Amino acid sequence: MKTITTDRVIIVGAGLGALYAALKLAPHPVVMISPEVLGEGASSAWAQGGVAAAMDADDSPENHAHDTMNAGAGTVDPKVADLVTREALDYILDLTTMGTPFDRTDDSRYVLSREAAHSFARVVRVKGDQAGDRIMAALIEQVRETPSVQVLEGTMALDLDVQGGRATGVAIQDASEERSAPVMLRGPAILLAGGGSGGLYALTTNPPRIRGQVIGMAARAGALIADAEFVQFHPTAMDVGEDPAPLATEALRGEGAILVNKHGTRFMQAIHPDAELAPRDVVARAIFAEVKAGNRPMLDTREVLGEAIKTQFQSVAAYCARNGIDPAIDPIPVAPAAHYHMGGIATNTNGRASINGLWVCGEASSTGLHGANRLASNGLLEALVYARICAEGIGQTLPTQKQAPLVELTFEEGGIPPVPEAVKKLRETMTQLVGMVRDRRGLIRALQIIALLEEANGDSPSFLNMCATATLIAAGALVRKESRGAHDRSDFPEPVVGPGKRSEMYLSDALAIRAQACEELT
Ligand code: SIN
Repeated sequence: MKTITTDRVIIVGAGLGALYAALKLAPHPVVMISPEVLGEGASSAWAQGGVAAAMDADDSPENHAHDTMNAGAGTVDPKVADLVTREALDYILDLTTMGTPFDRTDDSRYVLSREAAHSFARVVRVKGDQAGDRIMAALIEQVRETPSVQVLEGTMALDLDVQGGRATGVAIQDASEERSAPVMLRGPAILLAGGGSGGLYALTTNPPRIRGQVIGMAARAGALIADAEFVQFHPTAMDVGEDPAPLATEALRGEGAILVNKHGTRFMQAIHPDAELAPRDVVARAIFAEVKAGNRPMLDTREVLGEAIKTQFQSVAAYCARNGIDPAIDPIPVAPAAHYHMGGIATNTNGRASINGLWVCGEASSTGLHGANRLASNGLLEALVYARICAEGIGQTLPTQKQAPLVELTFEEGGIPPVPEAVKKLRETMTQLVGMVRDRRGLIRALQIIALLEEANGDSPSFLNMCATATLIAAGALVRKESRGAHDRSDFPEPVVGPGKRSEMYLSDALAIRAQACEELT
């Protein structure tokens, strides 16, 4: 394989964590591996809610940490919850300085939205539902003006090279449909900031390219993976037949929107004292039960917002319009969809993975903040906090040299093209057998199917990365014999008594579990 060695820090990904880390590393030279033009196809840009931060005079980081731990169903690391929530305000101020036009009141205070399981209105937003997009736009503008940052748009990472226990390079290729032969890019440090796994599911709110590839790539290189089985399903993805499913932000429920079924029954009040603002896993399960019962659950914004939804939540209004729904007249059909992976590459409080020379931030990481159920709008916050931690940590390992030539990249033909049929089957398998409600039989069947798909498509590194993450999720779900947060086992419906435990697994462990599953008859 052709090799290029650079003095630039290699950042895999182009979402919020990647951009923020690149800026915080400046003037150290970096090169970003971005599958698309900056801003396109990143989960961060699709985030509607915003960034959670205790900014109300009566609120505090301690309250925020407490809500984070409550939502996380007993598996949040308190040190991490404290670290992240304590610093939240600084990031809001920094993003504001960088040009993010957060919504303000007439007297210049930040407008704070309420989202599920938050005890205060605490989500800082932009134009109601456009926080991700506007934050990303502000950072992209900064990145474009920062000479130390080189962005290789249209490239994707395939493999992580580890030598002597140290990550030394990333194999990359042209991300176009034709795909090129891979090129090995070697650099002094590698930061993985390449998103989660939601798109491994057929029903998802994640952009199409976000299919667990970065987690799988690290796992295949020997990195420790944590909490793989914890996948969050957003309760109110719009059930309109689009892939990915557009989101109807939780902030709508924060404004007072209610959930009803086709009989006009408001079903959440009977399930949880916080009704529509119960923790996300609780609401998702209730909506799923309505879907399964053929009761067509819907989000009703009519009374609380009426026509105002069209100006106050313009993204949601646009999704409705393109599907022929007028939310001022009709409720919006909803169903749960894979939204966020709490699990990922195990990362310590310095942002370091188990492999030397490897740092991780954002959804690809598992820091211990989210536990079994992420508190709404903590995802962008965590990406920011750990992007800075990683940038500082990496900066300390680098020589003082502040200049490096641009990476000159030319790709040659010879890559393995995508395998869309296998990806489709993998995604359907994940939704049907490793989705909202799991059981032993289904998980074993899923592991068998993943093994067959992997065997038949073993020459596609990108597909192998997806299969590695899928295997870790299914194997993790099989060995966690309890229901906790977003992980729901119909054959083990209660949480194990006592403190919740995070899980840790290498891919080799997950493959051994899969091999055993393959020997079983279902
Ligand atoms: C939402 O706006 O409902 C999503 C926010 C999040 O996932 O953090």
